[in-house]
Amino acid sequence: MENSRPKLLMCAPTFFGVNYVINPWMEGNIGRAARDRARTQWEGLRDTLAKLADIESIEPVEGLPDMPFVANAGLLYGDTFIPSRFRFPQRQGESEHFVEWFREHGYRIEALQDSGSFEGEGDALFQPGEALLWCGYGVRTSLQVYKDIAERIGVEIALLRLVDERFYHLDTCFCPLPDGRVMFYPHAFDQDSRALIRERVAKENRIEVPASDALRFACNAVAVGDTLISNYAGSELRERLGDWGYAVETCPLDEFILAGGAAKCLVLHLEHEVAEAAEGAVERGSHVCDRRVDIQGQLLDTGLMNEVLDCVTEGGGSFEVEEFHAGLRHDQESQATVRVVAPSPAKLNTILGRLLQLGARVPEEEVDAQLETVTKDGVAPRDFYSTTIYPTDVRVGGQWIRARGQRMDVMLVVRDTEDGHKIDCTLLRDLREGDRVVCGVDGIRIQDRLPADTESSFEFMASSVSSERRVELIVENIAWDMRRIREREGKIVVVAGPVVIHTGGGPYLAKLIAMGYVQALLGGNAIAVHDIESDLYGTSLGVDLARGANIHGGHRHHLQAINRVRECGGIAQAVEQGVIRGGVMYECVRHGVPFSLAGSIRDDGPLPETHMDLLAAQDEYANLIQGADMILMLSSMLHSIGTGNMTPAGVRLICVDISPAVVTKLSDRGSVESTGVVTDVGLFLNLLTAKLSE
Ligand code: ARG
Repeated sequence: MENSRPKLLMCAPTFFGVNYVINPWMEGNIGRAARDRARTQWEGLRDTLAKLADIESIEPVEGLPDMPFVANAGLLYGDTFIPSRFRFPQRQGESEHFVEWFREHGYRIEALQDSGSFEGEGDALFQPGEALLWCGYGVRTSLQVYKDIAERIGVEIALLRLVDERFYHLDTCFCPLPDGRVMFYPHAFDQDSRALIRERVAKENRIEVPASDALRFACNAVAVGDTLISNYAGSELRERLGDWGYAVETCPLDEFILAGGAAKCLVLHLEHEVAEAAEGAVERGSHVCDRRVDIQGQLLDTGLMNEVLDCVTEGGGSFEVEEFHAGLRHDQESQATVRVVAPSPAKLNTILGRLLQLGARVPEEEVDAQLETVTKDGVAPRDFYSTTIYPTDVRVGGQWIRARGQRMDVMLVVRDTEDGHKIDCTLLRDLREGDRVVCGVDGIRIQDRLPADTESSFEFMASSVSSERRVELIVENIAWDMRRIREREGKIVVVAGPVVIHTGGGPYLAKLIAMGYVQALLGGNAIAVHDIESDLYGTSLGVDLARGANIHGGHRHHLQAINRVRECGGIAQAVEQGVIRGGVMYECVRHGVPFSLAGSIRDDGPLPETHMDLLAAQDEYANLIQGADMILMLSSMLHSIGTGNMTPAGVRLICVDISPAVVTKLSDRGSVESTGVVTDVGLFLNLLTAKLSE
């Protein structure tokens, strides 16, 4: 660059202003930019640049207030100009004027083939002197355009995802400099992009600027020769740039910052010093890939469509909804085809894996699932597929086979039996060397996430948490459901924590058991301990349940209770020997209701029945919930979540807790079958038993 003066394009701010909001900087600033001041600042910048470079200019156009930000006009390489495709309609009118200017000045115009938006040198920046284009995406520019650009310009493409809306263009947070150097603001990027920059640029060649510089547009700098021009540079940054041999010149541009731009945004480089790409470099860089997925269901009412699109973005990809047919009535489903674009095949696979779990299908699904063999007991192949609660089919030998024992977070193992292939949901710890595990995303499909025929899908019971809603109304409907389950000899499982006893719910739960509404009880050591304590001493953790006051010496009651049961040899024995004469555990024993107590690190005792071997406890829980129609989760986060993980779709879950966070976590199974009730569990049980006794 030293030998010839660089050429830059600028556009006077004659019609500049903040007239709309398309980035966070513009918010609250409509009508606040002072045109005279902007003019003076812009001239300051132009005069500073004119000492070092030749400035060309394009006529501003009335009604296009952002046109001075010429960096967004497009991308130049050689004598070819790729015009932008602005994301927001407010700026789209600028394009024709830019295209006209470049055509008149003898450039070749090459429009982008692919759909998707592209905001030119705002997002695509050449590394000076190298065959490398840094490509920002995620806010303004869509990922897919870089596939197109990579194919046209034979340079390596480094994809950087922007995650902070305030740094919506790459040039607001990233400034490539000659000699392989880079100045950037790390937090504007996602983790992988940060890692990519650090991998491509050695430590001594990069300056990671702090937020105090970045938020004053220090990275939005124009480098001409040894001079770096920007709105601002803190003293430390100046010093570091000085060590690199740069003289930093600041031009105040705060009027333009009201619109979200500064020095670099106001300039477009008309020449780039780009090197010839080395062998293989292009392939190494341009990995943008895509695939289409179909999704069908209650996409709008359930928010599933949003979930799908968020999943793509969060996975580092971008999307395009190519088709969308909205179900107009409640009984009609919506259908969408979404093109998923990812920066690498690995990321595409991860995103597709998640979409599959949301119920999406990859249309080219007519291939067999990919199987990989376990080489070490209890260790899955890296690319394993992990299950959801929804019925899942796997394609093996050209046939779709339904997995057995559906539950969440397990692997799918293909077994050859006499009647052909079987697919078993298998826990990580149960994988054995030689097992063939389903991997990747092909040949897997999940049954509709929202079975239309789910019972008791009352509108008001839809998967939502209700604290304000009348608890009575919900209880009435839960009671109604429980009655019907009991009438058809179905199965209701209760998961309960000690809070049930502390809040005085013990007698009601005991009554439910006695009335035949509970077919299995799952809990920990504590629920049983405090239930027995309350039967023996009338206290729960030393608190008198009748009066709600601490009993002197009561803190040892629960230990005495444990001790008594241990003396008898177990809960059942204590009941038989007449030591325990009432309560939850008593009714379980009397009515032959199986229970499982899973231990934990904080357990006192424990009771002889408490499993301190957690694997055994998990297995017993899993056994007891087999065939359940309803699971009532009463104030136990730990045991409830543990149970929820084992439960396939199609089981009614009722989660009662005083903490909305717990209820949300548990009822968030994206399904009509879970109901959350935020209330005191003692009151809930009182109400429920009353309803069931009517
Ligand atoms: N108001 C303009 C926009 O939001 C500012 C553009 C700044 N340009 C840039 N290259 N960062 O589009």
